[in-house]
Parts: sequence; C-alpha cells; structure tokens
Amino acid sequence: MSIIDGVKAKARANLKTIVLPEGDEARTVQAAQIIKSEGIARPILLGKAESVLESAKKQGADISGIEIIDPETSPLTSKYADCIYEMRKNKGVSPEDALKLALDPMYYGIMMVKLGDADGLVSGAVHTTGDMLRPALQLIKTKPGIKVVSSSFLMELPNPEIGWNGLLVYSDCVVMPCPTAEELAHIAVSAADTAKTLCGIEEPRVALLSFSTKGSAKHELVSKVQQATQIAHELAPDLILDGEMQFDAAIVPSIGASKAKGSPVAGKANVLVFPDLQAGNIGYKITERLGGARAYAVLQGLAKPCNDLSRGCSVNDIVTTVALTAVQAQA
Ligand SMILES: CC(C)(COP(=O)(O)OP(=O)(O)OC[C@H]1O[C@@H](n2cnc3c(N)ncnc32)[C@H](O)[C@@H]1OP(=O)(O)O)[C@@H](O)C(=O)NCCC(=O)NCCS
Repeated sequence: MSIIDGVKAKARANLKTIVLPEGDEARTVQAAQIIKSEGIARPILLGKAESVLESAKKQGADISGIEIIDPETSPLTSKYADCIYEMRKNKGVSPEDALKLALDPMYYGIMMVKLGDADGLVSGAVHTTGDMLRPALQLIKTKPGIKVVSSSFLMELPNPEIGWNGLLVYSDCVVMPCPTAEELAHIAVSAADTAKTLCGIEEPRVALLSFSTKGSAKHELVSKVQQATQIAHELAPDLILDGEMQFDAAIVPSIGASKAKGSPVAGKANVLVFPDLQAGNIGYKITERLGGARAYAVLQGLAKPCNDLSRGCSVNDIVTTVALTAVQAQA
C-alpha cells in the first residue's frame, strides 16, 4: 500500500472537517466532490454561493451536500473579526482592519480552524505560500513546546530498502530560510512527530545533516548543526537522533558504520533534517527528479493543521493534501 493509500484509509476512519478557502477555484470544486464521495473528509468551500456553484457546474462537479460559506454573509464573521482584533491589536490592527481581514476567505478559513469550526485548512491553488502562512503564523501559532512552524516532505522512493520501507521524511524544505541552531532543533523534533503521525513510523531515526560527519570538518556551519543536535537531545531526550552527519552516512549502512561508528541513526535514518532551506529545497527536488521519488508536503509545528498547495497543483494533489491534513487533525 502506498503512503497516500494508508493516509486516506486513516482519514476515512475518523472523518474531519477541512475548509477550502479557494472555494470557487476550478480544481478545488472537483477535488471537493472526490473528497466527499470517497469519504476522506467533510469539505467546506468558502466563497459566494453563486460563484462556487457556477464553477462546479462548469467543471461538471457534483457538490450537492457540500457546505458553502460566504464570509460576507456568515453570522460568524463578526466573531472572527473580534478575535482577530484581540490577537493583533498590539500589532496595530484596528477593529475596521480586523473586519476586513475576517471577510477575506483566507483569514476566515484560518479563524474557523483557530476556533474549532473546522479541523484543518488547505489552500494554495491560487494563493502563494506566504499568503496562507502569514495568517496561520499570526493567528493559529505554534504547538505548545514548539517554537517554529516548518515543513516536512514525505519522500516515497522506488527502493524499499532505503529509510522506512522506502519512505524518508525531509525537513525543512519550505518555510525557514536560515534557521538558528535552536530553530533547527525544533524542526528536528517536529519532523519526528510528522514521521510518527502521518507515516506511522513507530521509531523515527533522525539525522541532522551537514557536509561533515562527527567533526570530520570544522566550520561555523558545522558547529551550528552540532549545537542543534545537542539542543534537540535536550528537547526530546527519548528521540533517536544524531548529528552532524553527511547524507551518505545517514542512509548507507556501510558508510554510516565507518564514518559514525556506534551511532543509533547513521546508516538507518528515516528522518533527514537539512541545515537550511536552500539545502532542503534542493535536496527534495533532486530526490524527486533524479531519484524517481514521489514527494508530499505538509506543514508542521502549527497548533492546528493548515497546508499549502503548489499553484500548479492537480485535482489529485488537493485530494491528497486534504487527506494528509485530516490525519494531522486526528492527532
Ligand atoms: C514564512 C514566511 C512567509 C513569513 O513571512 P514574513 O512576511 O516574513 O512574516 P514575518 O517575519 O513578518 O512574521 C509574521 C509572523 O509570523 C511569525 N513567524 C514567522 N515565521 C515563523 C515560523 N517559521 N514559525 C513561527 N512563527 C513564525 C513572526 O514571528 C510573526 O509573528 P507576529 O506578527 O505575531 O509577531 C517567510 O518566512 C517566507 O516567505 N518563508 C519562505 C517561504 C517560501 O518562499 N518558500 C519557498 C519554497 S516553496
């Protein structure tokens, strides 16, 4: 069974409500039909009813029975505006600004999740990563004990001997351009949590990657990863985690054994933490394009799950991301 088939089965077993702020977008209405008919989640579409229904008609999507909410007419908008104002008044947001934000489907959807009127949110078919991340960071904020929001890519490889039955979790490949040692440690802990929650990896083995293995090179960038490893041990003493190590030392057993003798992670890592966003983003794309892997992205570290799509996403990508979000919401 592929990782996504497993995630969909989990999503069906405990149905969650997922809000889609881009409710009248062509791929979104098609995805909503599939999500409902396959019983993956209860989708809610945001937007003007006429516009959502017209888009569905154009796409030949049957969205009967799917809730549509228009922030302009919703009785909850003023409550959401009050909450936005309370949370952001010290950042210069006025009551009028807050109402304007609450009328924006992205902020409205974020507030639904914040206040428990939906379990998770998926957007990004139209909006950029930043458009969705910023309100999520400002209003939903991080999980208790976690300082930063970051991302993981679930990399499904053609070779089942690598990682956990062919699955590796890569982090962070989307959010934090240049994490400090402390932030990197929090990313490592979040990635292990994603490996457990979404992939069912019972024993995450987390490698903090570098161009050095166990002091083979000396540089301030290497010291940062060593420090991050130390902080991550303190944050999660029971986690099987080690660093700094090179990519090959992390995943090739013979190289791990020679370069990092006695490491509980080297050669058998299933969670790989990259030292910064450039390395992480390049790394996942190399794995996808040259390694033939399938890549599925999720955000981690948010108090409630919200996930981003690429603007070039397919209908199937939206369905998959909703399933991943629903399973995150179960946790
Ligand atoms: C995440 C991102 C959108 C934040 O945007 P920004 O406009 O710089 O946001 P700010 O720095 O003003 O922060 C906004 C709020 O979010 C918080 N924040 C920012 N990054 C955060 C993070 N990773 N985790 C938790 N909170 C964060 C800030 O503390 C701030 O909170 P406050 O307003 O309550 O004080 C930005 O870091 C970014 O663009 N990252 C790269 C995304 C990207 O382009 N990826 C490409 C690969 S697809």
